[in-house]
Amino acid sequence: MDWFQYRDGQLFCEDVNLDKLASSVGTPVYVYSQRTFEHHFEELNKAFAELDPLICYSIKSCGNIHLIKLLADRGAGMDVVSGGELHRAKLAGVAMNKIVYAGVGKTDAEIREAIDADIGYFNIESEAEFENISAIARSLGKTAHGTLRINPDVSDPNTHAKTTTGKKETKFGVDIDRARKFFETYGRDEHCRLTAIHLHLGSPIYSPAPYVLAINKTLTLIEELRAKDLTIDTIDIGGGFAADYESGRSPSYETYAEAIVPLLKGKGLKVILEPGRTIAGNAGVLLARVQYIKTGGRKKFVIVDSGMHQLLRPAMYEAFHFIWPTNVAPQHEPSRRSEQMDMPGLEMTDIVGPICETGDILAKERGLPPVARGDLLAIFTAGAYGMVMASQYNAMPRPAEVLVSGSNATIIRRRETYEDLTALEMETASV
Ligand SMILES: Cc1ncc(COP(=O)(O)O)c(C=O)c1O
Repeated sequence: MDWFQYRDGQLFCEDVNLDKLASSVGTPVYVYSQRTFEHHFEELNKAFAELDPLICYSIKSCGNIHLIKLLADRGAGMDVVSGGELHRAKLAGVAMNKIVYAGVGKTDAEIREAIDADIGYFNIESEAEFENISAIARSLGKTAHGTLRINPDVSDPNTHAKTTTGKKETKFGVDIDRARKFFETYGRDEHCRLTAIHLHLGSPIYSPAPYVLAINKTLTLIEELRAKDLTIDTIDIGGGFAADYESGRSPSYETYAEAIVPLLKGKGLKVILEPGRTIAGNAGVLLARVQYIKTGGRKKFVIVDSGMHQLLRPAMYEAFHFIWPTNVAPQHEPSRRSEQMDMPGLEMTDIVGPICETGDILAKERGLPPVARGDLLAIFTAGAYGMVMASQYNAMPRPAEVLVSGSNATIIRRRETYEDLTALEMETASV
């Protein structure tokens, strides 16, 4: 569900015509719909209302401070994985007690800073990390709070191998058997209060079934731990709810909630969710301009001014993004977004970027209405894991980001310049 819609063959974000916007701010540019962002947050909240959850938006999915602030203003907490993300959350005015801090490699400096800020929870990934957090809290004369990240050994067959995390053999968390021992050893620590369990199965998870399996395993563990007089008052079920890369592909929030809420209701547990993609994914598009059209053998290539350096997902995960011109004839106005568009007059095309890598492909063998040099293409569902993964590879400045609300458009991150590319190299220092 999003507010990127065609009107008389022209693509709009809410009430802003994207061709006009691109002419004014240039390309490539990420464009976000405020209404879509807020809609997903509110709908998710509504679906899980019976549990009164704390929704900690996953900053890693789309971390512009103006977008973080939109959600923080609506009561959201944040899931962060680095000192840099914590810095973003602070700048956006997020309540620090609503921060959960994950990540397998937190440094001492990052831990100290987070304890000083009185964050809600550290999601703890190993025995060594627990001991380190506890020792740092002790040295600061403070009490930290921890959730133990467990691996319930559950995964979704539809999740890409590079983004599945709930299996036993991942670098994240500890397996359930080790979790018992973990709580027995550390569950009564005074400097890091370990009273919560965290899981994250991977992303995207296209069905509630893996959550049900994992939560049931976790509830059994919680019962066992409580029977040993250990306090477990919180469960964090992570992120992973899907986004609509193709129309109607992701389950509704109600579908997830109908399966998950009854399991957790009345269990004396505060519930935390860590959604990223499901809120940000459909809220953003990447606009790119066609530079050249060429053929290679039997192939037709459309070369655009954006690529893997600005949207890595197709190259990294073979991810599908629907791509369509922003300005089309009536017969090519898409009523849905899909890999197979059943329309007359489409041309089989590879859409590629300018980077000197054969893998710089945004879409392969895709039916596309005829396009010409200078046309504008929209790469849909690019809000999550888009701009946050953008690099300056090949010394290409990163795109601008624009936030649309109704008929207003605001640049929330200016386009990088060549000076930005070299700014940090201007001063040298002997060491
Ligand atoms: C621990 C954790 N929580 C939440 C998320 C957010 O996942 P998603 O964007 O699929 O909701 C991730 C993604 O990698 C994660 O690792």
